[in-house]
Amino acid sequence: MKIPKRTEAEQLERIRTSIYPKAADACTDLAREISDLIRARVQEGKPAVLGLATGSTPVPLYRELIRLHREEGLSFANVHTFNLDEYFGLPREHAQSYHRFMQQQFFAHIDIPADHIHIPDGMVERSAAYGHCQEYEEQIRESGGIDLQILGIGRTGHIGFNEPGSSKDSRTRLVTLDSLTRHDAARDFLGEVNVPRYAVTMGVGTILEARRVRLLAWGDAKASIVARAVEGVPVESVPASFLQDHADAQFVIDGAAAAELTRIKRPWKVGEVKWSESVTHKAVLWLAETVKKPILKLTDEEYSEHGMAGLLTSQGPAYDLNIRIFNQLQHTITGWPGGKPDADDSFRPERARPFPKQVLVLSPEPQDDVLYMGGTLSRLVKQGHRVTVAYVASGNLAVPDSEVLRSVELMLEMAGELAADGGGADAQFAGSVREQLAAKKTFDNDTPDVRRLKRLVRRSESRSACRICGLPGDNIRFLDLPFYENGHYRQFSPRANDRERIAALLKEVRPDQIFITGNLAEPSSVQGICFDLFRQAFESLAGEAWTRECRVWLYRGSGSEWDVNEIEMAVPLSPDELANKIQGIYQHQSQRSQHPIRTSGHRESWQQAEAINRTTAESYNRLGLAEYEAIEAFRRWSLK
Ligand code: GLP
Repeated sequence: MKIPKRTEAEQLERIRTSIYPKAADACTDLAREISDLIRARVQEGKPAVLGLATGSTPVPLYRELIRLHREEGLSFANVHTFNLDEYFGLPREHAQSYHRFMQQQFFAHIDIPADHIHIPDGMVERSAAYGHCQEYEEQIRESGGIDLQILGIGRTGHIGFNEPGSSKDSRTRLVTLDSLTRHDAARDFLGEVNVPRYAVTMGVGTILEARRVRLLAWGDAKASIVARAVEGVPVESVPASFLQDHADAQFVIDGAAAAELTRIKRPWKVGEVKWSESVTHKAVLWLAETVKKPILKLTDEEYSEHGMAGLLTSQGPAYDLNIRIFNQLQHTITGWPGGKPDADDSFRPERARPFPKQVLVLSPEPQDDVLYMGGTLSRLVKQGHRVTVAYVASGNLAVPDSEVLRSVELMLEMAGELAADGGGADAQFAGSVREQLAAKKTFDNDTPDVRRLKRLVRRSESRSACRICGLPGDNIRFLDLPFYENGHYRQFSPRANDRERIAALLKEVRPDQIFITGNLAEPSSVQGICFDLFRQAFESLAGEAWTRECRVWLYRGSGSEWDVNEIEMAVPLSPDELANKIQGIYQHQSQRSQHPIRTSGHRESWQQAEAINRTTAESYNRLGLAEYEAIEAFRRWSLK
C-alpha cells in the first residue's frame, strides 16, 4: 500500500492513518497489500505468515480476500495464520467460538491447508493454559514470525483481548475480559451473563513483533477510541496506543471512525482551513463550549486567543459572526417536524407544503424508531401527517429464550382455558416450540419455529410502542428482510431481493419525508446494512419525480446523538412528551435487561435515550438558546 507522507493536518497523529470513504474501499487496498505479500513470499520460496483477527471489522476484508482467491487465482497454500485470541472455556463448535468464526468467514472458502491454521485453544485445562500460551509463542517464532498482523479495536481500546492495563511487553496469556467488552459481546451470546469471563490472547508484545500491523476500524462507535489511540500518549489504559511505537503500523479506517481525529473534528487547529459554512459553524460552537459561554457573548479576543483570527478577518467581527451562527442554530429548532402548514417556511428545517405529508419512518430493528425519534413520531402523527413505520429487519435474534417460553406458556394456558382438550393448532405449535426450547443446547442456534415466535414477540412489542406514539395499527409494516431472517450477527449477506423490498415500499408510499438511521454505523451491523440497502433502493428510483422532492432525515442511533453543530432539525419535547416516549420504549420488554441486578454503570435503553435527549436540550441551552426539557435531533441526507 502506498502511504503518502504525513501532511500538516496529520501532525498530531502518532500512527499513520488512512481514511477511506467506505470500509469496502479500504479492504480493496488492504487485500491487495496482502496478496502482494503472499505472492512475494512465493517468489522467495518462503511462507507468508498472517496474524488474523475476529469480530465484525475484518469480515469485509475476508470477503475481499475470498473474492481474490475465487476470481483472481490468489492461492493461500503458502500462507500460515495465527489468530489473536479465543474465548476461554468455549468449545470449538460453539456458535461464538473464534475457531468456528474463522472457518465460516474465511478458511472454508480458501485453499489454506488445515495444518497451517493456528488459533489459541480455549478448551485447554486451566492448569495447562500457561504452557499452551508458551507453545503458541514458540509456533509463531518457528514460522519465522508474523509478516502482517490484522487487528480490530474494541471500544476499551483493546487489541486482541489485551484489555486496558495490559503492559506493552505482555505475551500470549489467559486474561480476564473487561465489563465493557463483555457488554459489547452480550448480543452475540444473548445476554451479558452468558459471555465468557476469560480469554486466551496474544500479548501486546507479541503483536508488536509482527513486521507490519494494520488496524481496521469502521463506524462511529469506534471514533473516540481511534482518536485516543492515534493522538494520545501511549498508555496502558489504551492498549492500541502502544502501536505508536511500531515502525510499520497503520490504522485503516472509514470516515465515520475518523470523526474524532483533530484533522476532521477541529481542522483549524492543525493548519489553515477554508472557512466554509460548516467549518465556521463547527468552530463557533466549539469556541462557545470551550470558553463555556453562550454564542452571543463570545468576544473578538476569545476568537483570536483560540487560533481563529483568520475567521474574524474573513467573517468578523465577533458580533456579526455570533449573531449569524446563533440565528442558524435557532432556525434548526422546530415543533413541526413535518413542516408547519400555512407558515412562512423560509427559515424552517422542513417545508410547509405539501400538507399533510406522506412520512416514512424506517426502523432497521424494532425499537430504533421509538428510542431515537419516539417524540418526533408522536408529533408527526398528532400534526395530521400520514405516517408509516416500517421495521426493516424482524429483530428475532435479539430475543432471549425466556421471552418465547413466556409467550408459549401464555398460549398454552389460554388454550387450556378455552378448550378442555388442550386446544387446536395454536396449542400444538406452542407445545412444539416449548419442546424445541427444552431440547436446545447452550450452543445451538434457534430452530425456525423459535425464530418465528421471536419475530412475533418483537412485532407485538412494536405495535404496542407505536400505539403509545399514537400510530394506527394499519400504518405499521414489518418487512422481515430475508438477509436477517436467513443470517446471524456478523454473517449477514444482503442480496438484491432485500433491496427490492425496500424499493417496493418506497414506490408504494411515495414519501414526502423519510426518517432513517445507520449511515455512520459499522457496515455489517443491521443498521449499516439497512441504510445501505435503502441508499441503493432510493438511488434506483432516482428517475421518479417524487424522489427529488422527498427529504431524507437521519436520526443518529447507536446510543448517541448528533453533535450540535451537525444538527439541522431539533425537535423539542415537553416533559409529557418525553415521559410518553419512555413509555413507548418500555413496551420493548424483550430488550430490557434480563438480569435486573447489574454490575456498575449499566443503563437500560430508555435511560440512555432519556439522557441523550436531555443532554441535547442542555447543550442548546448552554449556547444561549431556550431551555427545553429534551430534544430529538436530525440531519439531512441526500444522494450525492
Ligand atoms: C473482540 C476481539 C477483538 C476485536 C474486537 C472488536 O473483542 N477479540 O479482536 O477487535 O472484538 O470487535 P468488532 O470488530 O466486532 O467491533
